[in-house]
Amino acid sequence: MTTNHFEFQRKTGIILALDVTDEENAIRVTEAVADMVDAVKIGYPLVLGTGLQIVSKLSRYAPIIADFKVADIPNTDRLICEHVFKAGCAAIIVQGFTGPDSLAECVKTANEFGGKVFVVSEMSHPGGDYFFTDEISKEIAALAKKSGAFGIVAPATRPERVKELRAVIGADLKIISPGVGAQGGSAADTIKAGADWVIVGRSIYNAADPKAEAEKVKSEIEKLI
Ligand code: XMP
Repeated sequence: MTTNHFEFQRKTGIILALDVTDEENAIRVTEAVADMVDAVKIGYPLVLGTGLQIVSKLSRYAPIIADFKVADIPNTDRLICEHVFKAGCAAIIVQGFTGPDSLAECVKTANEFGGKVFVVSEMSHPGGDYFFTDEISKEIAALAKKSGAFGIVAPATRPERVKELRAVIGADLKIISPGVGAQGGSAADTIKAGADWVIVGRSIYNAADPKAEAEKVKSEIEKLI
């Protein structure tokens, strides 16, 4: 495959979280599961390990989501978003707790490049709801919608929260949900609760056969249709 992917559509409902830290592994795993995933999410582990140029190498296989959880003043947010989209990413994950002006700047910059913004509304790890109380998460999700974001990030480890956040944003925004596999979340339960995509990392990229592992998640989701 040679063309870069920028638009992503839901086919399998899976986003690979590629938190390996070297290029060889990144390409090996992406190549193996490219037909099984709708996008590849990269973040600090891979980009700090290899440089932002990894985006052009991986975007031949799938659209790339930059999970930098951007959380700064609008000017700095804009500078970060510009780098990410110029590098060829299709979407960026940003924090919502920074408020409307920061979020608006991220969405405006993404729009200039034809890119998309996902806003973290609540995190998937056990401490993720310590500060992100139910009410605050809902307010962040509502702000994401008001700001024109493409979607939110909601925890697959708490499907009931995915359901509540879906009720807040309605049908227009997308939900991507990390926490399936290594963190104990179920792909089927998360999609049933209203997520559009599940994000799966370690259970795929650490598997002896990443493709077989991705197949399992794919068929778990397919059974729901
Ligand atoms: P694992 O290995 O646990 O990887 O399948 C999960 C991936 O998702 C990221 N992650 C999150 N990103 N909000 C986010 O924006 C969250 O609540 C969240 N929880 C996990 C994690 O960094 C890894 O890449």
